[in-house]
Amino acid sequence: MDGNGRWAKKQGMARIFGHRNALTAVRESVIAASEIGAEAITLYAFSTENWKRPKLEVDALMTLLTKSLKKEVPDFMKNGVKVNAIGKLNDLPDNAQQTLKEVIKTTENNSKIILTFALSYGSREEITSCIKKIAEKVENKELSINEINDCQIQQHLYTHNLPDVDLMIRTSGEQRLSNYLLWQMAYAELYFTDVLWPDFRREDLYKAVETYQNRERRFGKTSEQLDGEHEQVT
Ligand code: FPP
Repeated sequence: MDGNGRWAKKQGMARIFGHRNALTAVRESVIAASEIGAEAITLYAFSTENWKRPKLEVDALMTLLTKSLKKEVPDFMKNGVKVNAIGKLNDLPDNAQQTLKEVIKTTENNSKIILTFALSYGSREEITSCIKKIAEKVENKELSINEINDCQIQQHLYTHNLPDVDLMIRTSGEQRLSNYLLWQMAYAELYFTDVLWPDFRREDLYKAVETYQNRERRFGKTSEQLDGEHEQVT
């Protein structure tokens, strides 16, 4: 969700004004993703590196997150949204942690779409923590080195309950992954748009999905092999 600061600056306003105006884009994206049948949507709301921002902005973002999460609960319930969070959640202020826990508990039986907030999240930190958990199991003889495979790693990531990423959308014209879901994006289609996040609407999400649908995902195979598989299925 990139470009909040630039969106605010364009209007001569402080950066937090951009963050406050980002919530419509969040709502529209979740609803649009849910309506087209996406199983999960994951929003990069705060990275491990974002703690380096001015304290005023960090505090404002944490307050915004806590207040808006509480406010959205009736809509989460109405729309079948199951809330989830990934990252070093213990780093968040106590009230944000508490609110997250409550919202996750309240929405745990919803099943239309999983909405995950990546908070104090960094992919390298996630992978490091995954390696430590696996090493601990090896040390305790709960796991042998030969048993370590893709599947074991997946099960020790913060995203163990989520599917791999199919489509990654980054707004604001930046073309980087910025330490986001690096393992999970091994085969993701990447989509970059110049739209600044506060201006992102459901039509922008549909456009990204349409582009995704027109890509050929070969997963290492050839086009001819895939054509053969399609013929077998149809
Ligand atoms: C990136 O834009 C945005 C963020 C670091 C914060 C995203 C947070 C929200 C959308 C609000 C949080 C609330 C919920 C409920 C998710 P930027 O600030 O880096 O913009 P810039 O690149 O233009 O400076």
